[in-house]
Amino acid sequence: MEGLSGLRVIVTGASKGIGRLLSSRLASSGARVLGVARSVDRLRVLEERFRGFFYGYPCDLGEQPCRCCDGVVEEALRRLGGIDVLVNNAGYAVYGDVYSQSLDDVLGQVYVNMVSAIHLTRRVLDYLLEKNRGVVVFVLTGAVYVYVRGLTVYGAAKAGLSYFAEALRHELEGTGVRVVTVYPGAVKGTEFFSHPSFRGKKVKWSTSVEKVVDAIIRGIVDERVTRIHVPWWVGLAGKLSQLFGLTVSI
Ligand SMILES: NC(=O)c1ccc[n+]([C@@H]2O[C@H](COP(=O)([O-])OP(=O)(O)OC[C@H]3O[C@@H](n4cnc5c(N)ncnc54)[C@H](OP(=O)(O)O)[C@@H]3O)[C@@H](O)[C@H]2O)c1
Repeated sequence: MEGLSGLRVIVTGASKGIGRLLSSRLASSGARVLGVARSVDRLRVLEERFRGFFYGYPCDLGEQPCRCCDGVVEEALRRLGGIDVLVNNAGYAVYGDVYSQSLDDVLGQVYVNMVSAIHLTRRVLDYLLEKNRGVVVFVLTGAVYVYVRGLTVYGAAKAGLSYFAEALRHELEGTGVRVVTVYPGAVKGTEFFSHPSFRGKKVKWSTSVEKVVDAIIRGIVDERVTRIHVPWWVGLAGKLSQLFGLTVSI
């Protein structure tokens, strides 16, 4: 794709962290964004700041099943006039051993981090495959490779989405629709670790929100890019983990 100007992009998790910075960078570069999240007030702030370039689509991706996912293509056509890119970025984690988490917490993580992303991707693919072009980006995590004590459910959901994304890339070969997977380590400058379950935990940062957003944008515009690790050594950790089964604690 040639630059960002004029691109029509759906970004999930647009209200905070990676999704908010990504939406701001896209909108200020002339792309038009449909931002999906629950925080209506934060979506409104972005709509005010980037009038005509950012539109909020309030939607709870934790709903089981995600009914608002069904309306996203229609809303993108109404607001943006089409779709070029879907960025599946929304996600969250509840820290703690599996047996200490409520069933709501477990299912919520599985839906937001995996099931609703698959649901939304299927809806958007209906449109992209008709046009024979487009990009679907998945924001995953290095925790897919390295077992993190206390992130068992989150990691399992992201690992499921990682399998879906990597396999989908092969399914879509020759269709004109590309799949880009992004695997960040712990990202400084987001609200991810603000969930009360992380209270008292000290995180060792691997990267910044700016670097993750740079990587996503590179994946959108550069057709040679398929898979990005941020920073690069997350990929090396993945290879080592395949051999030795790495486990870490936070
Ligand atoms: N931060 C890290 O260290 C890190 C590392 C690796 C991967 N990641 C991944 O990066 C992605 C972005 O997270 P972030 O770091 O930017 O965290 P963040 O600052 O907490 O932002 C998370 C975004 O996801 C949205 N979201 C959460 N639950 C949702 C729901 N039920 N329905 C709709 N939207 C929902 C939030 O919007 P609302 O709350 O407004 O709904 C928010 O916009 C996630 O997929 C995360 O797993 C993060």
